Amino acid sequence: MSNNGTVVSVQKLSKHFKSGGTTVPAVDDISFELPRGKMIAIKGSSGSGKSTLLNLIGALDRPTSGTIIVDGVDVSRVHGGGEVRYRLSKVGFVFQSYYLIPNLTALENVMLPMELNGTKRKQREAKARELLERVGIDEPRQARRPTRLSGGEQQRVAIARALANGPSLILGDEPTGNLDSRTGKRIVELLYSLTKDGKTVILATHAPEIATRADMVLEMEDGKVTISSAPASGARR
Ligand SMILES: Nc1ncnc2c1ncn2[C@@H]1O[C@H](COP(=O)(O)OP(=O)(O)OP(=O)(O)O)[C@@H](O)[C@H]1O
Ligand SMILES: [Mg+2]
Repeated sequence: MSNNGTVVSVQKLSKHFKSGGTTVPAVDDISFELPRGKMIAIKGSSGSGKSTLLNLIGALDRPTSGTIIVDGVDVSRVHGGGEVRYRLSKVGFVFQSYYLIPNLTALENVMLPMELNGTKRKQREAKARELLERVGIDEPRQARRPTRLSGGEQQRVAIARALANGPSLILGDEPTGNLDSRTGKRIVELLYSLTKDGKTVILATHAPEIATRADMVLEMEDGKVTISSAPASGARR
């Protein structure tokens, strides 16, 4: 059951990959609910199912069984253009390797999801500039292509792009994985600050500094959530 405080509700969710003669239960019959406006870390060793779970929540992949409700939308049942609409309007993705489009400027990268969503050009540009300012990319850098930006700056642009269509969820797969620890910390703080605007930020990570900053931690092992914890009080500043 979902209520105003819950943004993601996962019920009996499984994703089994068939490879060769065996089946890998990458996500194995898990259920949980995530509160709105919080930062949630998904921890666990390599191969435990973190990316698979994130991809299911973001409708980049389909579950073998079970349901995922995001903001009242049954993500596991969307089809036709439904997944695309869902991904464009409800979720923003941030990845370890940024995935910015190399021949577009930072500004154009942030405008792109709005173009796909049918936003008018003037509005797209104004919004993109506002978001880039918000994440700390100044006007000269907005005009640069990704290769002329540092890794931290590229990730800031990717975060601005993720915010372009006003999503409820920001999904990050090892978003600090390619950054030095200082830059990584700043990116985590930036992601954390989004929760103040009511965004829910879900991060798959090995980085301990993300897990300690999170409001809630899900720990995965062999496709199962083994520990689900609210933070110790004091984790929030
Ligand atoms: N497309 C696929 N086909 C077959 N098996 C897959 C596929 N994607 C993932 N798996 C398997 O599912 C399991 C979970 O993988 P997943 O990528 O979700 O782990 P992870 O926790 O994100 O790991 P890491 O920390 O290394 O990123 C692994 O055993 C992996 O080999
Ligand atoms: Mg992964």
